[in-house]
Amino acid sequence: MSPLYLLVVLLAVPARAEVPGSYAVRHAPRGAGANAVAKEYLDPTYPLPQPLPAAPSCIVPVLSFSFGDTYGAAPAKAAYAPPAGCPAPWSLVVLTFSASCAGDQYDRVAAVWLDGAELLRTTTAEPTPEGVRWTVRKDVTRYSALLRSPPGGVLSVMLENVVNDQYTGVYSVNVSLEFHGTPPFLYEAASTSSPAGVAGNDPEVPTLPESYFQPADLILPISEITGNNGFWFRIQNATDSRSKLVTIPSSTYRAVLEVFVSHHNNDEFWYSNPPDIYIKENNLTTRRGNAAYREVVVSVDHRFAGSFVPFPVIYTGGINPLFWEPVTALGAFDLPTYDIELTPFLGLLVDSKAHEIGISVVDGIAEWLVDANLHLWLDPTTSDVQASLGPYKAPRLSISRRYLTRLLDGNFKIRAKRKSSFSGWVKSSFGNFTTEVETELKANSLVEFTNDGKNKTVTLEAKQETKMQVRADTGKVIAKVESEAKYPLSFFADTEDGENGTSVVTVSLSHGLKVETEIETRGFESTVKLADEQTAEGWMVVLDHDVVNGSVATSQTYRYSDDQREYERMIDIMNGAVLSDNVTESFSAMSGPAVGVAAL
Ligand SMILES: *[C@@H]1O[C@H](CO)[C@@H](O)[C@H](O)[C@H]1NC(C)=O
Ligand SMILES: *[C@@H]1O[C@H](CO)[C@@H](O)[C@H](O)[C@H]1NC(C)=O
Ligand SMILES: *[C@@H]1O[C@H](CO)[C@@H](O)[C@H](O)[C@H]1NC(C)=O
Ligand SMILES: *[C@@H]1O[C@H](CO)[C@@H](O)[C@H](O)[C@H]1NC(C)=O
Ligand SMILES: *[C@@H]1O[C@H](CO)[C@@H](O)[C@H](O)[C@H]1NC(C)=O
Ligand SMILES: *[C@@H]1O[C@H](CO)[C@@H](O)[C@H](O)[C@H]1NC(C)=O
Ligand SMILES: *[C@@H]1O[C@H](CO)[C@@H](O)[C@H](O)[C@H]1NC(C)=O
Ligand SMILES: *[C@@H]1O[C@H](CO)[C@@H](O)[C@H](O)[C@H]1NC(C)=O
Repeated sequence: MSPLYLLVVLLAVPARAEVPGSYAVRHAPRGAGANAVAKEYLDPTYPLPQPLPAAPSCIVPVLSFSFGDTYGAAPAKAAYAPPAGCPAPWSLVVLTFSASCAGDQYDRVAAVWLDGAELLRTTTAEPTPEGVRWTVRKDVTRYSALLRSPPGGVLSVMLENVVNDQYTGVYSVNVSLEFHGTPPFLYEAASTSSPAGVAGNDPEVPTLPESYFQPADLILPISEITGNNGFWFRIQNATDSRSKLVTIPSSTYRAVLEVFVSHHNNDEFWYSNPPDIYIKENNLTTRRGNAAYREVVVSVDHRFAGSFVPFPVIYTGGINPLFWEPVTALGAFDLPTYDIELTPFLGLLVDSKAHEIGISVVDGIAEWLVDANLHLWLDPTTSDVQASLGPYKAPRLSISRRYLTRLLDGNFKIRAKRKSSFSGWVKSSFGNFTTEVETELKANSLVEFTNDGKNKTVTLEAKQETKMQVRADTGKVIAKVESEAKYPLSFFADTEDGENGTSVVTVSLSHGLKVETEIETRGFESTVKLADEQTAEGWMVVLDHDVVNGSVATSQTYRYSDDQREYERMIDIMNGAVLSDNVTESFSAMSGPAVGVAAL
């Protein structure tokens, strides 16, 4: 995904392809065929909420740019100002990132920032001579604080591309923002009563303020200050912790850190990397080592504050690029972000002094592109909250590794576990609330090489459970959020020598992203479930890092449900063609008037 990577690959390529690898599909020129239509790529996700009727809406085109040989360059920039015709508060804001490209090219990473705070992390589809195009639409309502801040700001987009004689694809990108206001009747309702019954009727029982469930009042970027090469931190190794000093308002009553992360170069396939001992014993030149466990860790003033195993996103050139044509791998167009509740740590942060928020990657090797947004909710009536960090269970990562090597064969098992719990109280004008956060993370990884290393089995099972409770000073629990995320990934690949120096790689793969969240506050309960799964199998003929032939089939099932809706989309593709694409959707009759103003 960078010239550095290409260089390393050229030096390090063994007799046969490194599997899994990152490939570009080389298409035979098909002439100026009459039917040369750019192919549309897609990434099925839940359809964005319908804008409320009778609300004003405005579209602001912000940036239009062609990314040619941009590696190492500064991001493309454009001035942004909120639309005069659609003032905040907004019921919905959508960012649209549309792109097109023709020629040959690898997949590339890109991001959109507003004043250094990230709005979208994405990767590109690989083009064909006829061209490809796609559109990512992301609900960015939670970034309202950034989007409304007068007098506007600078939107930056980095897409690290390399163009040369061989790889000719230039990516054209348009970014626009679409604002939907709140219809007058709902705005009235929202300001006089509270949505979703968050506030109780009993004045004796304290409740969380309505603002707690709405987009943050202030968002501070935890990112590279200059942004000369993009605002992401480039993490190179396990000790390479990057941080930023921030001073937060002393009226902050809630804080959440949202982390953006993508893994590249030697760690693009971190979940399949062998340990260094295997590489050394076989005198291999590959630098894709350090075994197959990674965990992103967040710290506040060098104190552990949270962590997660990143979802293993496969980019469109990854493992077998034909699998991801025209349906991309899970999350490749809109990479998942990870929320870490920092409210228990406000006792350390609300003293009007600068504090260090740090990010690092356990066992990481070059390179990780990481940054974060610190979402802060402010008390409108007090300029100083009181807060204190309570019980803090210093979490220890327990990790066991078992490595067996026999020449090019090997069996590498890792089991990792981390359990942490934090608690802290914040006394604001809303009351004295104690936030307790408990997290349990478990991961099992297996990488197995047989048949002289030509057969590879990779299994990763990561599971993270988070429980958050908010207590009033009476000790009563007034809100509870429980979430469970699971990332199962497994694949088997075998590589055989083909004709004329080619390799024939056969892969079968299954990959899932499952997230379940339950929310309970007084008079309001909700369960949201997402299960997104892909299976793919097929073969390809590889010459160096180009795919010159192959045949594949991919199936995807995307299921989403909440208390009011169920949505399912099933897609079958074969050799680049969509065989079927079925959507079923149902709405429960129980859903009351649409109170879409409370974004969680
Ligand atoms: C970007 O916008 C321009 C002007 O509206 C349009 O001609 C072009 O096709 C758009 N490109 C993409 C990739 O959407
Ligand atoms: C880790 O990366 C940092 C930043 O590139 C570098 O300064 C440091 O020497 C590296 N440490 C090791 C142990 O390689
Ligand atoms: C690796 O290189 C060393 C030193 O040249 C040699 O003794 C050893 O046999 C080699 N190992 C393999 C597996 O080729
Ligand atoms: C390697 O994979 C091939 C194809 O699946 C299989 O036929 C063969 O038995 C495997 N060999 C070993 C040693 O695992
Ligand atoms: C807030 O509540 C916590 C837990 O009940 C208590 O320990 C703390 O003293 C309270 N703080 C204030 C300022 O009342
Ligand atoms: C291999 O190369 C030879 C000589 O250039 C050619 O005749 C043959 O068709 C090639 N085989 C394949 C599978 O491309
Ligand atoms: C690709 O593979 C198929 C099946 O083996 C073969 O019929 C076809 O000729 C191959 N195409 C090229 C361009 O080598
Ligand atoms: C879509 O529906 C058709 C007709 O019911 C069915 O034949 C096909 O298998 C379905 N496709 C998927 C991916 O479920």
